[in-house]
Amino acid sequence: MALVYELFLLSHCSHFRPPMFSFGNMPLIEPSRVCILGATGRTGRGVLQIFLSERYRNLELHIYVRSQAKLLALFPGIESYAGVKVFEGSITNVKLLTQCLSGMDTIITTLGENENIPGVRVLNDAATTTVSALETLSQEATYDWNRPRLILLSSATWNTNFAAARPRPVHWAIRNAFCYSYEDLLRAQAIYAAQPQLLQLCLVQPPALIEEEPTGHILSTEKVSLAVSYADLAAGIVEIVTSEAYRDTSAIGVSSASEDQLHHLPEMGRRIVRGILARYAPWYFALEWKLWGLLFGHST
Ligand SMILES: NC(=O)c1ccc[n+]([C@@H]2O[C@H](COP(=O)([O-])OP(=O)(O)OC[C@H]3O[C@@H](n4cnc5c(N)ncnc54)[C@H](OP(=O)(O)O)[C@@H]3O)[C@@H](O)[C@H]2O)c1
Repeated sequence: MALVYELFLLSHCSHFRPPMFSFGNMPLIEPSRVCILGATGRTGRGVLQIFLSERYRNLELHIYVRSQAKLLALFPGIESYAGVKVFEGSITNVKLLTQCLSGMDTIITTLGENENIPGVRVLNDAATTTVSALETLSQEATYDWNRPRLILLSSATWNTNFAAARPRPVHWAIRNAFCYSYEDLLRAQAIYAAQPQLLQLCLVQPPALIEEEPTGHILSTEKVSLAVSYADLAAGIVEIVTSEAYRDTSAIGVSSASEDQLHHLPEMGRRIVRGILARYAPWYFALEWKLWGLLFGHST
């Protein structure tokens, strides 16, 4: 099955549009007030890193985290950066999130859970809290409500074009291996999509996320490759936020530009096997963590 998928990918990779490293030649939007939820995660910290650069020094940046200590460990001194405000609280704290979202023109959420854990609901909770916060802000708005863009880290699995390009057994395996995270994601997407008067939703739908050096990103509504590195995904998200070309895009894939992606197949296979085990044996992760604890004195 893996070989068939490899051949399939090879035959499709050449149809990608050339990478869009387009800051130089594409009209840019100037988002002036951006909120990031999930900035301590691997995708979120990449996005934050870019927005902290000199290029975006005029940006007003609100960062909502559940652990300020973790954020400070990743970005020492960030609380004293000009334009940056950190909000620490639970993802269900409507009052605090309302303060955080006040005046924001762009909300980026890179929250999520990669393991297939039954009952995961971080995205559902974030969506409910965000919608409540925006309802309050829209009711309090003195002038017409300027609905913010909400950029949601989603998944290629839920893009019809991208999923149709996958062999059906592969698609089945991926859906099952991440079924609990996907349930959470789909609930969140539905909550946001039901509020077009409050927010403008844009789904970022990457393939497998991997830890690797950046190779450039490709944005496309037609195809994704096998994988995207966190750094390329972060750069892609920033381009979606700042490029006029994507202002009205409702769903878009981000891939890494590297042509050599097949070496990720073993790691992807490992994740799928673990996820499917967890799907059909819900105690699987508890057992795995216990074994790791016994063997190495800590959990995975
Ligand atoms: N893995 C893949 O191949 C793949 C492919 C496509 C899409 N995705 C999507 O990507 C997302 C994961 O992105 P990632 O790898 O960047 O995630 P990550 O590194 O695990 O970071 C997740 C972020 O969410 C926060 N978070 C998690 N649970 C929370 C909770 N209960 N309350 C508040 N904050 C919470 C984390 O906060 P802390 O730092 O405080 O823990 C962190 O900031 C998933 O939603 C998944 O559907 C994954």
